[in-house]
Amino acid sequence: MQKVDLKIFVEVCQWDELEKTDQQLVGAAQEACNTSYSPYSNFCVGTAILLEDGTIIKGSNQENAAYPSGLCAERTAIFWAGANYPDKRILAMATVARPVSSTQFVPVSPCGACRQVMLEYELKQASPIRFITQGENNSYYVMPAVVSLLPLKFSKEQLSG
Ligand code: THU
Repeated sequence: MQKVDLKIFVEVCQWDELEKTDQQLVGAAQEACNTSYSPYSNFCVGTAILLEDGTIIKGSNQENAAYPSGLCAERTAIFWAGANYPDKRILAMATVARPVSSTQFVPVSPCGACRQVMLEYELKQASPIRFITQGENNSYYVMPAVVSLLPLKFSKEQLSG
């Protein structure tokens, strides 16, 4: 048997070390938290997406009394981008979160389903989507591409065997 070590590389930055466009995107994601509909988790998540033409799209988590019918901020935003700007490349995405009763943002990490969905759009456009999120101790995690978030990814090539 052979053991393989699969690693994820993340750039850990302080606010001042983020690129200006990344800071703007994080700011837009923070604003997007204000539109979160999260009466069940009380956890507001916001995502902002930067398109190649400079357009910024915002999305937030939308919950439902039938719990699995709700949707994370990342998928709300990226599906909206796919539906309204199908031919525009996505350059970057930022996601942040805070409890509903707080103004303090807390670390958040995209769920597996969102990683899979973001990867699909990255493969479709054949260019990397930079992903930024808040990490521990007021740091920011910057991933140069979504593929690095999903080792052993499932993609459409596997469907054809
Ligand atoms: N959530 C997101 O929107 N994005 C994430 O990256 C993590 C989790 C949402 C889903 C649900 O509305 C709430 O946070 C609690 O899980």
